[in-house]
Amino acid sequence: MAVNWSLPFEEVIYPESDRIIDPKEYSKLHDLSVKNYRKFWEGIAKEIDWYEPWKKVLDDSNPPFYKWFAGGKLNACYLCVDRHANSWRKNKVALIWEGEPYADGGPVETRKLTFGDLYGEVNRVAYMLKNVYKLGRGDVIGIYLPMVTELPIIMLAAARIGVVFTVIFSGFGADAITERLNDSRAKLVITADGAWRAGKIIPLKGIMDKALAKATTVRDVLVVKRLDGKIGMTRKRDSWYHEILAKVPANARIEPERMRSEDPLYILYTSGTTGKPKGQVHDTGGYMTILHATMNWVFDIRPEDTYWCSADIGWVTGHSYIVFGPLMEGATGIMYEGSPIFPGPDRWASIIERYGVNVFYTSPTAIRGWMKFGDEHVKKHNTDSIRLMHSVGEPINPEAFRWFHGVVGKNKITFGSTWWMTETGGILISHLPGKALVPMKPGTNGLPIMGIDADILDEDGKSQKAGERGFLVIKNPWPGLSLTIHNNPERFKEVYFSKFPGCYYAGDYAVRDKDGYFWILGRSDEVIKVAGHRLGTYELESAIVQHSCVSEAAVVGVADEVKGEVPVAFIILKVGKKPSDSLRKEINSLIRENIGPIASLKDIYFVTRLPKTRSAKIMRRVIRAVVSGVPIGDITSLEDEASINEVKAAYLEFRGELSLKTAQQS
Ligand code: WT7
Repeated sequence: MAVNWSLPFEEVIYPESDRIIDPKEYSKLHDLSVKNYRKFWEGIAKEIDWYEPWKKVLDDSNPPFYKWFAGGKLNACYLCVDRHANSWRKNKVALIWEGEPYADGGPVETRKLTFGDLYGEVNRVAYMLKNVYKLGRGDVIGIYLPMVTELPIIMLAAARIGVVFTVIFSGFGADAITERLNDSRAKLVITADGAWRAGKIIPLKGIMDKALAKATTVRDVLVVKRLDGKIGMTRKRDSWYHEILAKVPANARIEPERMRSEDPLYILYTSGTTGKPKGQVHDTGGYMTILHATMNWVFDIRPEDTYWCSADIGWVTGHSYIVFGPLMEGATGIMYEGSPIFPGPDRWASIIERYGVNVFYTSPTAIRGWMKFGDEHVKKHNTDSIRLMHSVGEPINPEAFRWFHGVVGKNKITFGSTWWMTETGGILISHLPGKALVPMKPGTNGLPIMGIDADILDEDGKSQKAGERGFLVIKNPWPGLSLTIHNNPERFKEVYFSKFPGCYYAGDYAVRDKDGYFWILGRSDEVIKVAGHRLGTYELESAIVQHSCVSEAAVVGVADEVKGEVPVAFIILKVGKKPSDSLRKEINSLIRENIGPIASLKDIYFVTRLPKTRSAKIMRRVIRAVVSGVPIGDITSLEDEASINEVKAAYLEFRGELSLKTAQQS
């Protein structure tokens, strides 16, 4: 668990807003929305366009596999593109793209697409997928692209014709890619020759070639040219995206498919406690409904706004709040390529100034990264345009909140920390500046949004009182909840709905204060959040044991000032193998290549023993406690399969083992 700061329950800050509401008043409204949540969500769904209305608001005949707006028909691409291209928004800018600037200060490469432009491009790509690659409803494609405009265009084009897409984060390595392509049974992959990041080139096609060597279902590969195009192409399998697209008529038009509300829109893989990444399958109708609600309540999006979510589209934040949410609302959004600190630590402040960003969505890691470089990089630029901002991905520490609120927001902006997960589709706990805004507190997540019945339970399922830590759950279904885990519905039930029957179990610790505000404290399982990105210990450990010298490995997260958490590994070597720094390097490059650079290990400790339960499960909790210097009392109070005495004994033994090892190593 990452949080080790004290929580300022009493520090209340009033933003400039005419929608301020007392938490008690909020709770009354909220209670009403929850009591009749079906009616409530039906009202929201009616605000978006459907080809055919639903027959049933919620089909809950087979829980936890819920179907929202069953019988209804709609198309996500139509909602994001056609509707606006056929309105006054036709010539309004939908997307502003900014490429990574050159280190020598050359001109910044930008591209602006109006809703009219987007309509033309999306139609042509849909035409290509349908007529050249013969893809249609239910077929799956994999997308491994950097932050270029082709990425949202392809996602929308797929949605237009009912093709399910799975976006693979462009920072992932070969094994992580293969795993996702094979599990989703992708027929076509779209990648790029490479990408820019922090002045360096990432050879995406090379990594993809390695991944494809073990892929079982991919027939065709399309390559977007972002760099100089000097890469190897495999005959019959690979084609240049621009060459195939050049053959599509300029005015090609493809009618949007009328999708059923519960038809899958995309699959996105996420890490869990054990086992392989889980393919979360998102529906169409429920998903678009939660995005419509939260774009308005949470982001208070207005037609004249310039909106910027700084996430990568490879994660759910980008799917929901760069692509589908803002485009559905007809917002003007920014999409940027590169890194926050290249060519200098003022890249983001300069983007805010250049485009006059009004609404900003970012991560605590990014904020802490800015803080580290000092105020002057922000002050060089005019950031007064920001009216409201939120962070996401991990708990925000009060210092980072106060710094950003003061230095970037001049103490007048609204600033919240929105809690949600890949599984939830959209934001579930947040401040609602667009609807009813309770005063802010540095570090809190605010209150559950309307229609969401969140609670904090102890191990026995009893609701916790204010100030008592427990497990975060959601007690009613909501639109946007993942339909299932691809190929594994049993696992979906088991992971999310078995710990507390009838409730969605998030896997987070949380505490409530006396005003009812939720404070999410961090994961209660073995998931590690590196810079807000979710990594499973299993994937990392599997990569490590691939090394011929390694017998066993345990990975845990330790606190990091900027990234929140970073992974460290404890490794038992095979008999006769000696610990060394070159071995450390080899193991880390295995991780970088197979999982990706975000998973790089901060430290590697070679040990001869790992703490285990009698049933041979590694007690990562114990390891984490020893590494972070948490006293034994604090870990024995945590829930664990092992008995308290067993945990205590393992703790003392491992502490001895580790101090011995570190003494030897230094
Ligand atoms: C986990 C989900 C969904 C957007 C990005 C992350 C943590 C997310 C917050 C927040 C504290 C947060 C939780 C959650 N988390 N937002 N505002 N405050 N923790 O999606 O990769 O599926 O991870 O991120 O631990 O369970 P994800």
